[in-house]
Amino acid sequence: MSNEIQSVLTESRVFQPFSNLVEGAAISGMPAYQALCERAEHDPDGFWKDLANDNLVWNTPFTQVLDETNPPFYRWFADGELNVSANCLDKHLGTPTADKTAIIFEADDGSVTRVTYKELHAKVCQLANGLTSLGYSAGDRAIIYLPMSIEAVVAMQACARLGIIHSVVFGGFSSKSLHERTVDVGASLVITADAQMRGGKTLALKPAVDEALSLGGCEAVRNVIVYNRANSKVDWVEGRDRWLHDVCLNQPGTCEPVAVNAEHPLFILYTSGSTGKPKGVQHSSAGYLLWALMTIKWTFDAKPTDVFWCTADVGWVTGHTYITYGPLAAGLTQVIFEGVPTYPDAGRFWKMIQDHKVTIFYTAPTAIRSLTKAAETTPQIHPRQYNLDTLRIIGSVGEPINPEAWMWYYTNVGRERCPVIDTWWQTETGGHMITPLPGATPLKPGSCSLPLPGITAAIVDEVGEDVPHGKGGFLVVKRPWPAMIRTIWGDPERFKTSYFPAELKGYYLAGDGAQRDDDAYFWIMGRIDDVLNVSGHRLGTMEVESALVAHPLVAEAAVVGRPDATTGEAIVAFVVLNQSLPDDEQGRKIATDLRNWVAHEIGPIAKPKEIRFGENLPKTRSGKIMRRLLRVVAQGQEVTQDVSTLENPAILDQLSQSF
Ligand code: PRX
Repeated sequence: MSNEIQSVLTESRVFQPFSNLVEGAAISGMPAYQALCERAEHDPDGFWKDLANDNLVWNTPFTQVLDETNPPFYRWFADGELNVSANCLDKHLGTPTADKTAIIFEADDGSVTRVTYKELHAKVCQLANGLTSLGYSAGDRAIIYLPMSIEAVVAMQACARLGIIHSVVFGGFSSKSLHERTVDVGASLVITADAQMRGGKTLALKPAVDEALSLGGCEAVRNVIVYNRANSKVDWVEGRDRWLHDVCLNQPGTCEPVAVNAEHPLFILYTSGSTGKPKGVQHSSAGYLLWALMTIKWTFDAKPTDVFWCTADVGWVTGHTYITYGPLAAGLTQVIFEGVPTYPDAGRFWKMIQDHKVTIFYTAPTAIRSLTKAAETTPQIHPRQYNLDTLRIIGSVGEPINPEAWMWYYTNVGRERCPVIDTWWQTETGGHMITPLPGATPLKPGSCSLPLPGITAAIVDEVGEDVPHGKGGFLVVKRPWPAMIRTIWGDPERFKTSYFPAELKGYYLAGDGAQRDDDAYFWIMGRIDDVLNVSGHRLGTMEVESALVAHPLVAEAAVVGRPDATTGEAIVAFVVLNQSLPDDEQGRKIATDLRNWVAHEIGPIAKPKEIRFGENLPKTRSGKIMRRLLRVVAQGQEVTQDVSTLENPAILDQLSQSF
């Protein structure tokens, strides 16, 4: 057991909810929370039906709440019809929210642009009209490869308005990754930008699209729409490429939203699994949107006066649910940030909270840890130098937050008067699942606390039996919920086997290990499969291994994670070359080449932190790579287990040198 896990399990501090947040909260006090949980348990149909009727605007009302005739392919509100974009924008027209600022966009260089709900609606309609004029309609698939921008939200909302299924690819992914996703999703449209601006640099985006589309298999892509972000010079394919401003030019600012079935796929978002290529997680329209809105209301206790800021990128699920859909459906003012937290200095987040009077701030532990380090070494950019008085709630997402980081965040950013809302969820769950509520839940640093009402999270053993509190096991969700993944795009069989293994009684298997304490609080222990979490980004070890072995110099590779004080986990790659072991200088050069290669194959986020060369890898006599052993070696720990079954025990020494 690592020291970190031990320190989590012995954590005993408890912080009671602040009375000013209990008063008037959407869920006020534990009895209110328990009452909702009980209603959901005893009358799930009524519980979900009321939420869906009270919170969504329907074109055609639904008559059936949950269709479970074909598990695990659950359908929610399946005979209802609505439009997601109308629920995020049109709903506010004719109300005071129409003239309210929807988005405060702060660019990398600090310049600020604001749009009201009315203006955002018009922009979305113009693009939707432009897309219609290009012949796109409901069911088509669009790849969105854009920087953080108002335009990214507009592009996603315009797709939703027409029932076009979007698949956003994070701007940090390579052309190879983009190609893989474009082919898998069968896209006929790509929306991108010439470049993105981050940390004072202009980073090209369009060339990656050109390269991806040249790789073959993407012939269905008829149009590439390009947002001119940076006035960069770009190659242009006549007849295929169009500027975004030209597509929108002269288009009317209204556009009838297309009513789609509740189960119509809103988006497909690729995420890593333990085996094979990234999987296209398919989400629905109504169930997903309902949960995006409910969790904004419950988890963040959002009020019309709030200024919400989620620092995630729209390329990840957090950016989908807590930038593009949830905050707009709730009519909030939100901040969208183009840049990086360390430019022009590591006080950028705190300055932006101060400047925009942010009240709800939602970020990742990896950001907190790296900003802690920066603040402790550079006092001028310590959060205490800024006025953060407007903050009411501070959230965390993406990876376990260790108690030390929790306490720093709570003390220095929240000033001991804002709850740290540690939200556990996944791409597949659509929205928050286990999280404290600001007006109800006592907090324990490092625990994501209790499931939201309606979420039947539990911890079970290998045959699906509940384990007693205090014992570790698999985190599962026993009953379906509206925002759950519907399938893996194009691979329903993989959906079933990945998430609903036969031995677990039909429960949804999250892929995380966890345990509950005596108060039934959940403590997440990390992945139980070969999925890594590097800076809150999910990566499969196999993806990185496949990228490495595709390099001409590499004969074999094994990748494991090891704990890292800033990024949570770091990638360590063990590599066997097609040549003799390199000397130090050669080793350093090859390691640099391999890192760049992985960046080109997947994206810079997948670059191994350490590369270690060996003449072979530790294998059992039957030829299985001993990953457990590699994890020990990667952590620099002494190998205490029996290595007599290894083919070549001497290589453990070779593998201890890192490049
Ligand atoms: O291991 C859990 C970890 O991130 C995984 C989901 O990653 P992804 O689908 O990329 O979604 C990230 C944003 C929701 C989970 O299986 N994880 C996420 N949030 C937490 C967490 N681990 C512990 N505590 C959290 N709050």
